[in-house]
Amino acid sequence: MSLIDSLNWRYATKKFDSTKKVSDADIAILKEAVRLTPSSYGFQLYKVIVVTDQKIKDKLYKKSYYQSQIRDCSHLFVFCSYKEIEGKHIDEFINLMEEARKQDDERGYLDKLKSKAKIVAYGTIAKTDLGNRNKDELLNWMQKQCYLAISQLMVTCADMKIDSCPFEGFSTEGYDRILDLEDRNLTSTVLLPIGYRAENDRHQYRNKVRKPNNLLFEDK
Ligand SMILES: Cc1cc2nc3c(=O)[nH]c(=O)nc-3n(C[C@H](O)[C@H](O)[C@H](O)COP(=O)(O)O)c2cc1C
Repeated sequence: MSLIDSLNWRYATKKFDSTKKVSDADIAILKEAVRLTPSSYGFQLYKVIVVTDQKIKDKLYKKSYYQSQIRDCSHLFVFCSYKEIEGKHIDEFINLMEEARKQDDERGYLDKLKSKAKIVAYGTIAKTDLGNRNKDELLNWMQKQCYLAISQLMVTCADMKIDSCPFEGFSTEGYDRILDLEDRNLTSTVLLPIGYRAENDRHQYRNKVRKPNNLLFEDK
């Protein structure tokens, strides 16, 4: 099946078959797809909580306008953005980058000294740029990164014939409380329940509603 066939096969699943679970091996692949998602500056300023505990799912279901996908999915990916950027987030990235570049150097791919100076400069430029934005702008920017990650996860699911439903219909406050995010500088942003479609979910048989190319694209 081509990727476009998989994207046509994918639909926002309304009813999951709660008896079917995604395997640990597949979950490992899906986590890797999230991990490989690009992000602005490469900072990955989010955390992804993967919920399988039925008691927690039941509580979250009540904070999701009782939409059954949250209760019946196999795994619930909760993309949580940081609320504020801390200096340590950037320092953590710089450390990871130094480690990656050190390995590049060992393989003969770059000049270690020049690279070290560039990495430090990169961190300083980023800190200055982000320091010029207000709290709301930064939160908005970090939340956008979550949307890229969920998108990559959703497409990977489709490629693996795993069903999913992108999800914004939930109470951020409720989720943050249930998942203990409040004191951890995190806030729930967008969700992806995944699993396998129920046979009686009629939505899977419906045509997609999409704009034609002439309304969506403009050639210049
Ligand atoms: C960001 C986002 C949030 C969504 N939130 C919900 C939701 O809370 N509940 C739901 O059933 N569907 C939700 N949807 C599904 C959309 O309604 C659906 O993707 C759209 O109608 C297109 O249909 P398709 O995905 O089946 O092709 C959401 C989709 C996106 C992209």
